[in-house]
Amino acid sequence: MSLLRVANLMVFFENALVVNDLSLEVAEGEIRGVIGSNSAGKTTLMNALSGLLSERQLREKRRGGERITIMGEITYRGETITLDRPVSRVAKGVVLCRERHPVFPESDVLENLKIAGYLRTRREIRETLEFVFDLFPNLARYRRKRAGFLSGGEQQMLAVGMALVARPRLLLLDEPLLGLSPLMQRHLVESIARIRDQGGITVLIAEQFARPLLPLLDYAYVIENGLTTLSGKGPELMENPEVRAAYFGV
Ligand SMILES: Nc1ncnc2c1ncn2[C@@H]1O[C@H](COP(=O)(O)OP(=O)(O)OP(=O)(O)O)[C@@H](O)[C@H]1O
Ligand SMILES: [Mg+2]
Repeated sequence: MSLLRVANLMVFFENALVVNDLSLEVAEGEIRGVIGSNSAGKTTLMNALSGLLSERQLREKRRGGERITIMGEITYRGETITLDRPVSRVAKGVVLCRERHPVFPESDVLENLKIAGYLRTRREIRETLEFVFDLFPNLARYRRKRAGFLSGGEQQMLAVGMALVARPRLLLLDEPLLGLSPLMQRHLVESIARIRDQGGITVLIAEQFARPLLPLLDYAYVIENGLTTLSGKGPELMENPEVRAAYFGV
């Protein structure tokens, strides 16, 4: 059975169709990817999965506007979560690390990590912190440093660490490689493998940097203008001429 199943998801902003009849599945223990260039609809999809989109829709409705339309069904562990609030999805184990996830710049690294565990027990937080510091040794080194003073790459690692402290069963990563040096990108890709292998966490990643990521992906969906145009096993897509032309700059 799939851990996550998205069936015929459609999202409109006003009359603009941003996610077009998108269906996907992620089985427990897999790392799957959604590959797409700018404006493909990756963030909109991730926000729909985390509940941020329906939350925004609700806020707009209260103000009397109805700009966002969401259709389709999101199922997690066999249960429909399409209408769940974001916090209830987090409680169930669906955790999103947002694109350019903001950290609290005035708080230190450790405080940031602890804040992210607000739904978890102290023991759970302590256990996860060990794992996070093992994955990202710089966070351990700078645990008392203000987050605002970390490099962009370290802030990205902190953001991923914060998502982990929320104890996901399904971790959603929105463009985690954005703005990272090739070296940092490799480190993060390796860390994502460890998050699955050692952490036992299922992962769905939205990315435009396909090249470093595809070898890791059990399965990937290529989306353009909100529409799935291609899908297959990561290593197979690596060899696909269309993918190479569109995402590898060759
Ligand atoms: N709140 C919004 N209101 C109106 N249009 C929006 C809104 N958010 C996104 N869009 C539009 O929806 C489309 C998809 O945007 P989205 O942010 O999901 O793409 P993306 O794949 O995450 O892109 P990027 O790689 O730049 O992060 C874009 O054309 C964007 O302009
Ligand atoms: Mg985006």
